[in-house]
Amino acid sequence: MARILLTIALLFSLALPGMAQDVDAPASGATDPRAATGGAQTLDDILARQRGEEVPSRERSEDPDSAGAMAGQLGSLGGSSDSEVWSALRFGTADVTVSAGGAPARVLIQDRGMWWLEFREGPLTTYGGWLLLGTLALLAIFYVIRGRITIDGRKTGRTVTRFGAAERFTHWLMAGSFILLGITGLLVLMGRQFIIPTFGHEAFSTVAIGSKWIHNNVSWAFMLGIILSFFFWISHNIPNKTDLKWLAVGGGIFKKGVHPPAKKFNAGQKVIFWSVILLGGSISVSGLSLLFPFEMPMFAKTFAILNETGLPQTLGFGALPTQLAPHEEMQFAQLWHSIVSFVLMAIIIAHIYIGSVGMEGAYDAMGSGEVEEQWAREHHSLWLEELEEEGKLPDTSKAATPAE
Ligand code: HEM
Repeated sequence: MARILLTIALLFSLALPGMAQDVDAPASGATDPRAATGGAQTLDDILARQRGEEVPSRERSEDPDSAGAMAGQLGSLGGSSDSEVWSALRFGTADVTVSAGGAPARVLIQDRGMWWLEFREGPLTTYGGWLLLGTLALLAIFYVIRGRITIDGRKTGRTVTRFGAAERFTHWLMAGSFILLGITGLLVLMGRQFIIPTFGHEAFSTVAIGSKWIHNNVSWAFMLGIILSFFFWISHNIPNKTDLKWLAVGGGIFKKGVHPPAKKFNAGQKVIFWSVILLGGSISVSGLSLLFPFEMPMFAKTFAILNETGLPQTLGFGALPTQLAPHEEMQFAQLWHSIVSFVLMAIIIAHIYIGSVGMEGAYDAMGSGEVEEQWAREHHSLWLEELEEEGKLPDTSKAATPAE
C-alpha cells in the first residue's frame, strides 16, 4: 500500500511544471541531469530502464524544494521509481484498495486506453465514413445504370393490403428512431473532428450535449421497435428453398422483366430483417452496456467463449484477452457498438433506397399499407397466390380507378 501511495506521489511530483521543464531540458552545465531534479529520476533514467539498462537507486536530495525530497517524505524509496509497482499498476495486478468507486476506481493506469482512442479517432471514423459514402455512391451508380425498377405488367387498379396499422407503426417507430440514432451517433463520434474546425468549440459542445441526450433516450424506441417487428415478422422470415432461386437470379433487380417467385418476404428482405434483428440486437446490448457504465461487462466472457471455439486462433488473432479492466470492457463495447452500427447503417441505406426511389410501388406497402395487385404479382407472386387460396384476396382487394 505504501508503495502505491509513493507511486501516486511520484506521478504528482513529475507533473510539477518546474520539474517537467527540467526533465525536458537539462540545466546547462549540469553533468548529471538528476542534479536538476533534486535526485529524483529523470527522463534519461526512464528511457534507460525501458532499454533494459540497470539504473541505480538515487540518493534522496537534501534540497527541501526538490521533488526527490518531497516524494521521499512519503516513502522509503525517495524519488526513485519501482518498476515492479509500475508494472503491477499497468497490468492491473496491483493490490489497490479504494474507499469508494468500486472496481473502476481501482484502475490507476489503463494501459490500452491510448490504443482505443487512436483507433476510435483513426480507422473507425475513416473506414466507417467511407463505408457509408461508398454505399451511397454505389446506389447512385446503380440508379444511373438500372434506373427505377418499375411495375412491368399492366396495373390493375386494385390494391392488396400488405401491412396493417400496427405493423406500419412498428416499422416507422424503428425507422424514425434508427435514423435519429444514426445521425446523433455519427455526430458524437465524428463531430469533434468536423464541427470544431469549422464552427468552433461552443457549437460542438451544444451539438454534442443534444446528440447525446437524443441518442440515450431514443434508443428505447429502437429497442421496442425491433422487439415488436421480431414478433410480427419472424414467421415470414424463415429461410426456405424459394430464397435460393430468388438469390440465383439476383432477385431480378439487375434485369428488367425478371421476377423470381417469392412469398411475403423475398430473400433480400429476409437479409434486411435478420440484419435488423441480429445486428440491431447486438447494437442494443452493447449500447445498454455503454448506457450503464461498468454495470454490464460482457467482452471478457465473450472472448473466453470465442477462444474455446478456436476461431480467433484460426483466424490468426491468437487467444483474445479474457482479463479486461472495467475501462477496457467499456472501450470494447464502444468499438463494437460503432462497428456494427456502421454495417447496419450501410445495409439500411440500401433498404431505404429500394423502399423509396429505387422501386415503383414499394413505398405504398409502408405508407398506406395497400399495394398495387400487379406489384404484388411481380414481386411476391407466391404470397398473392396464398391470399387467393385462402380467399383473402376478394375482401382485401379494392377496386380503385380503372387501370390505364
Ligand atoms: C425512410 C426510411 C425507410 C423507408 C422509406 C422504408 C421503406 C420500407 C418499405 C416500403 C418496406 C416494405 C417492403 C415490402 O413491402 O416488401 C419496408 C420494410 C422493412 N423495413 Fe423499412 N424503410 C425505411 C427505414 C427502415 C429502417 C431505418 C429500418 C430498420 C432499422 C427498416 C426496417 C425494415 C424491415 C425490417 C422491413 C421488413 C423487411 C423488408 O421489407 O425488407 N426500415 N421498409
